[in-house]
Amino acid sequence: MKRRPEPEELMEGEDQARAYAEADFTESNTLFIRLLQQLVSDTHRPLAALDLGCGPADIVIRFLRAYPNARCAALDGSKAMLKLAAQALSAHPELVERAQLIQDCIPSERLPRAHYDLVLSNSLLHHLPDPQVLWETVRSAAKPGAPVLIMDLMRSASPGWVETLVETYAGSEPEVLKRDFRNSLYAAFEPAEVSAQLQTAGLECLEVAVVSDRHLAVMGYLPT
Ligand SMILES: C[S@@+](CC[C@H](N)C(=O)[O-])C[C@H]1O[C@@H](n2cnc3c(N)ncnc32)[C@H](O)[C@@H]1O
Repeated sequence: MKRRPEPEELMEGEDQARAYAEADFTESNTLFIRLLQQLVSDTHRPLAALDLGCGPADIVIRFLRAYPNARCAALDGSKAMLKLAAQALSAHPELVERAQLIQDCIPSERLPRAHYDLVLSNSLLHHLPDPQVLWETVRSAAKPGAPVLIMDLMRSASPGWVETLVETYAGSEPEVLKRDFRNSLYAAFEPAEVSAQLQTAGLECLEVAVVSDRHLAVMGYLPT
């Protein structure tokens, strides 16, 4: 199926951001943390992490709980999303001090170079008109040898499979969320396309894996 980019890159609408923040992503976000624990098994390591396209910060919160000595810079271009992220974090006062919210878009001038011990991102890649901006940001912001975990949806094989996934995973969600999920399944990349992106970026050291019926993950360590 041909890729159909997201109609809008940023999720700036307040209703859209709220519907996303209220949706239940427990299954996929738990999977994300499980994959991370395979990559970084020492959960007590002091880490300076970066979450790109953090949205309402559910993954930031799960990460800071799972890695009690880590800090996390969480970047998103959407003001509405970061407002929800700040609200979600304020419900966890014990974590707030270890999180830093940054409103900016990648490519970003505000991220320090070769600074982060770990780069994370979930469901950002398919939003980008040019996916290389993600791989360039990973390369420039992370320290040499840093672990990287990027998870995203993968493009469905057919419109029929898109509708099956929408019904299965968003059947009882509000219409705005169903629409966004459908758009995302058309905008997402196929695993082979992501492998080609990594090759172009000189990041063949990262592995692409299919990790669910709708997700792929890019995992590994940057060159030292
Ligand atoms: C589908 S949401 C994922 C949010 C979060 N990572 C999660 O897993 O729940 C994608 C997020 O990426 C943000 N985004 C899209 N393009 C961006 C860019 N170039 N720079 C920063 N954020 C971006 C959107 O505003 C949105 O909040």
